[in-house]
Amino acid sequence: MAASPAAATPQRTAEQQAGLLWSYIRGFHATHLMATGIETGMLAAIDRRGAATPADIATELGLHAPYVTTWCRTACAYEVLDADGGERFRLAPFMRELLVSRGDPRHIGAYVSIMQRYGGPDLTDHARHYRGGSAFTFQEHGRDFSQLVADTTGGLQTFVARRLLPGVADIRTRLEAGCRLLDVGCGAGGLMTRIAQAWPAVRCHGVDVDPHGIAAARQRISEAGLAGRVTVAQAAGESAHDDGGFDVATLFEVLHEIPVPARPGVMAQTFAALKPGGILFIVDETYPSSHAELRQPEYAFSVQTAYNELTWGNVVPTREEQDALLTGAGFRDIERTQVAGMFTQIIAHKP
Ligand SMILES: C[S@@+](CC[C@H](N)C(=O)[O-])C[C@H]1O[C@@H](n2cnc3c(N)ncnc32)[C@H](O)[C@@H]1O
Repeated sequence: MAASPAAATPQRTAEQQAGLLWSYIRGFHATHLMATGIETGMLAAIDRRGAATPADIATELGLHAPYVTTWCRTACAYEVLDADGGERFRLAPFMRELLVSRGDPRHIGAYVSIMQRYGGPDLTDHARHYRGGSAFTFQEHGRDFSQLVADTTGGLQTFVARRLLPGVADIRTRLEAGCRLLDVGCGAGGLMTRIAQAWPAVRCHGVDVDPHGIAAARQRISEAGLAGRVTVAQAAGESAHDDGGFDVATLFEVLHEIPVPARPGVMAQTFAALKPGGILFIVDETYPSSHAELRQPEYAFSVQTAYNELTWGNVVPTREEQDALLTGAGFRDIERTQVAGMFTQIIAHKP
């Protein structure tokens, strides 16, 4: 970014600048408010009842009524709840899909919970990590964290399995015909189970270094009755996986999580695992390439991810870094598409 254009703030008053900072502080409280609503069951109870008073909710869930009253009123101020009059509250439009319905592709409630439960403590620890450059890695966060990550990515996995993958004509043909798919960094196996359910002739193999993810994946695959078509191994992406046997390889929310020195090895082994003509499919964040891009809305999520995953040891690559990794491994014909204004879909081919 050394030679990038300037990113200067336009003329603003001190009040406007103070307003900007207060909006960030409000966001902090709103995140905790949503997380409390999820953890206590208040959001789900209001959804079930359609509309409810704080007294109804407190009685149903065994909560302290005065606190519930303040929570409901604050949630109304933050536009998470609407007030019906007479101290009755209901969910504001789309809050069911966004905060209550876990299977909905638009669900961000699990992300809210992960921010509160793990993001908060991680960020509180930043100053200590900054002194020596230490890290607290993804895998060190433990089993519940791995499970919560799986819940966070679930909605988008459904979208990938049913819309994005078949949206690439070359991949759709292979899914229909029954191909072999390698999922590098498969975590709890959610993407593979969704692909196998949507495409009955596809066989999947997943690898991940996270033992908690692999244990959860094994359980999920067996519960879904997919053990005959979906397998997993606790292995690094940079180790060999059945050279030349796969038609499609996926890395879903993985590239930015791989330690930078290991990335060329992961790409080389993924390339080796594919048949000639095989296709690589990546969905991940792309970091801005210039200071001006730091402020562009399409990079807001990747800037946030790079910040809140910084002390996990994660580095979100720029598009130049992504391209260099792919071409360095031998991939050609790289195509990029933006997904949901937050992610980048990358397709690349093994000649
Ligand atoms: C954000 S999670 C995504 C997991 C999964 N793809 C999903 O959709 O839930 C990133 C995953 O990449 C895995 N990972 C990081 N470095 C890896 C490596 N070198 N080889 C294999 N997996 C790796 C992590 O253990 C973690 O499970």
